[in-house]
Order: sequence, then structure tokens, then C-alpha cells
Amino acid sequence: MTWKDNAAENRTRSCRGPTAWAIRPPRSPVTAPSCPVEGESLSGSGTRPRRATGPTAWIYMTRTRTPVYPLPCLPCLCTSHLQGIINLGVSENKLCFDLLQSRLTQSDMLRVEPALLQYPDWRGHLFLREEVAKFLSLYCKSRTALRPENVVVLNGCASVFSALATVLCEAGEVFLIPTPYYGAITQHVYLNSHVRLAYVHLDSEVTGPDARPFQLTVEKLEVALQGVISEGVTVKGLILINPQNPLGDIYSPGELQEYLEFAKRHELHVVMDEVYMLSVFDEALEYRSVLSLERLPDPQRTHVMWSTSKDFGMSGLRFGVLYTENQDVATAVASLCRYYGLSGIAQHQMAQLLRDHDWISQVYLPENHARLKAAHTYVSEELRALGIPFLSRGAGLFIWVNLRKYLPQATFKEEELLWRRFLDGKVLLSSGKAFQCKEPGWFRIVFTDKAHRLRLGMQRFRQVLEGRPHFRT
Ligand SMILES: Cc1ncc(COP(=O)(O)O)c(C=O)c1O
Repeated sequence: MTWKDNAAENRTRSCRGPTAWAIRPPRSPVTAPSCPVEGESLSGSGTRPRRATGPTAWIYMTRTRTPVYPLPCLPCLCTSHLQGIINLGVSENKLCFDLLQSRLTQSDMLRVEPALLQYPDWRGHLFLREEVAKFLSLYCKSRTALRPENVVVLNGCASVFSALATVLCEAGEVFLIPTPYYGAITQHVYLNSHVRLAYVHLDSEVTGPDARPFQLTVEKLEVALQGVISEGVTVKGLILINPQNPLGDIYSPGELQEYLEFAKRHELHVVMDEVYMLSVFDEALEYRSVLSLERLPDPQRTHVMWSTSKDFGMSGLRFGVLYTENQDVATAVASLCRYYGLSGIAQHQMAQLLRDHDWISQVYLPENHARLKAAHTYVSEELRALGIPFLSRGAGLFIWVNLRKYLPQATFKEEELLWRRFLDGKVLLSSGKAFQCKEPGWFRIVFTDKAHRLRLGMQRFRQVLEGRPHFRT
């Protein structure tokens, strides 16, 4: 499907604002895009039809006539399914289970009372939204106290993406997104709403003394935007991930301000993914949440998301939040929380966790950061010893490495073959293609696993690159 196909569908509908989703006519089946998710390369090329597995894949097959899940799909990448493969491919923080277990099993965590067993306010219980607002005010360093009425609680950032796509866009409209990016967003915005992504391709070339590899500029945003518009497609917003996945980089406050001004000039929504905001472990980095900026250029079109999946290593708990001053958007997203909400019991647990600022600031975060730093140092040193160039500025759970020199030719076919050699050598990485990187040869290594598994993973990584893979489990 091209932008033009999208545009034809698009022209049949007028823009009806954030709640237009409620009266959208049923869509005709269209072909799903290839869905490059982290770990997608398990299924081979992104465009080949794939065998559907499990009920989820089946559901989407019947609607779109195309199986959209790669094989095996993301949930199958959990350790128990990997049969001896060391998983350095999926972005999960497994370093602090001991701390979390001891906090989450304390007596204040379990409460059962009628209100928690009944239908909640779909934005989330007020007691939780109050704690979220205080938590974000403190840890995002907002200038003024953030407000509970701007908070909506959902089951993870994947759901926030999906819900925002549904309420902000019509089918066929697009969000701009700089590449490389966390590839599963393609699915998050497409599967329910048929919203697509338009790429702002970045590359590793450094063009000036102050420039960085894969640096986003307003000029690149402008070019990409005009390119999409010239095809008759409506761009509804800009998605930014900060700290960035997979680059492990952060945007400076000045850059953020420029991107937000760009969005305002073009009346674009900004969907700000700050899911790694507390995983900045290099103290020298000055990370700033958009919620800390003195002035948001367009507060009604700026929507921030965060979850406990990465910063608290709880990707299985499924807790995420949307913070938006736009009450139409908050109300529309909340109405989807019949599907995307979380149980009253879990809401109570999360409120208890987020209100415990002493534990977070004095126990959890210092220890988590120390462990992140130690694991990051270990992998960086291994890479230096191998003479492998990499990018990583001390944020996130991963290092973005350039394995171009191991590809006989600079093609994505060769990148995939290398990825398969890693898998045969029993170590799983995510290849650059899964992040829509336009240069072949980049891979993401997740370093947030226990030392013994990380060591084994890096040993296998080295063996594969040296041409002597390890085949035993
Ligand atoms: C940048 C980014 N956003 C969102 C998510 C999804 O987070 P959640 O587990 O809260 O759905 C991920 C998961 O890898 C991610 O890396």
C-alpha cells in the first residue's frame, strides 16, 4: 500500500478532531504492512507472508486477511521459550528483581475492598492518578505540580500508542517518526486504527563539529513532512522517543524545544515516549522530560507516555500512563480503557509503589543505576576489545553496535544472515532492520541481564564473530 492508496481512503473522510474515532465507519479490509518488531528477524524478511500462530495472530488474519505477527511473536521470546538461547534482543531490565520482589511483597501491597473489585473510573482510580501526578512531578522535575485530571492509566505504553492513534487519527493518516526507532510502534498504531508511520531517516554520518551520528534536525523533519504531504497524505503527528530506543541517546532541552516548535508550526500532535526516563545512568547526561520544560509550545497537542516496564523492570505487570492537558484526548483515551485498563488490585499496588518516594529515590534508583552502569561498562569493554564501534550515551538498556565490518557486502540480506549466525550460535540480538535503520550492519545489544547470562551471551557473540560458534546449549 502506498501513501497514495492511503490518501484515496483518506480523502473520503473529513478531520473531525480527537473524538472522531467514535463515529468512524467500518473499514474495508486492507493489507497489513510488514511489522518490524524487535526480534522480528526471527521470522526472516519483513515482507514474506507468515504462518499465523495463536489466537492473536488469527484475529488479525481474519480482519486484514494477512497474518501480521512474525513467528515466533514477541511473547514467545521470553526466556522459557528460548531453549538455551541467551536473549540479548528484547529490551527488558532483569537486574533488579530482588529489590522489586522485596518491595512488592510487603503487606501494604495487597488490598481487597469493594471499590477495587468494581468497575473503576476508566481514567484510572483517582487515588492512583494522584500518585502518578505526584510521581511525574517529582521525577520529571516539572516546574509546576502536574494534575491528576491529565492522567489516564492504561496497561502499558503499547496501549497508549494504540489508543492515541485511534483517537487522534483517521485510518490512513500518519505519524512522522525518526529512524531507527523501536519497531513495534508500527503495529501499535496500525493494528486497531490503520494508522501508519512515515520515516524521517537518519544516518550515522557526522556532518559537523557539534553533530552526532543519527542526529535528528528540524531540517530533516521538514523534508520528510513535505515529502508525505506532497503525496496527498495527512500527517497528524510526530512520535519522539526520549531517551531513544535503540540509540541509547537523549535529546537536549534545546533540541526538544525545536522539535516541539516545528510540530506547533505544522499543527502536529507530539507523542512523546519517555518510557526510559529513569534509566539514564550516566550522571553527566542532562536528561530533560518534556514535562520539565519551562514552556510547552503547544500543550494541547503534546501527549507524554511512561510505563513501569523499563525503569522498574516490570514489563509483565502492564502499567502505563498517558499525561495530556487535552481533556478531549484524555476522555477519548479513557473510554478505550474498558479494553486497555488494569485491575483495581493492580492499581492499588502501583499507587503504593509510586508513592514510596523514599524507597524509589534512596533504594531502587541508586541500585538500579549502579547495576545498569556495571553491565553497560562490561559490554562496552568487550566491544572495545573486539574493535567494534558502538553508540551509547548512558541511557536505556541497550548499546547500538556497528557490525558492518562483518558483512561481506553492505546489504540487509547479509545483515539477516549474520543475525541468523548469532541465533545458531545461541545468542539473540535485534538487527537494525527491525528498527528501520537505513544502513545495514547495525545491531542492538540489550545489556540488562544477570552477569552470568550476559557473560555467556557476550562470549557467544564473540565466538560467532570469530567464526567459531557455540552449538551446545
Ligand atoms: C520506546 C518504547 N516504547 C514503548 C515500549 C512498550 O512498553 P510497554 O511495555 O509499556 O508497552 C517499548 C518496549 O520495548 C519501548 O522500547
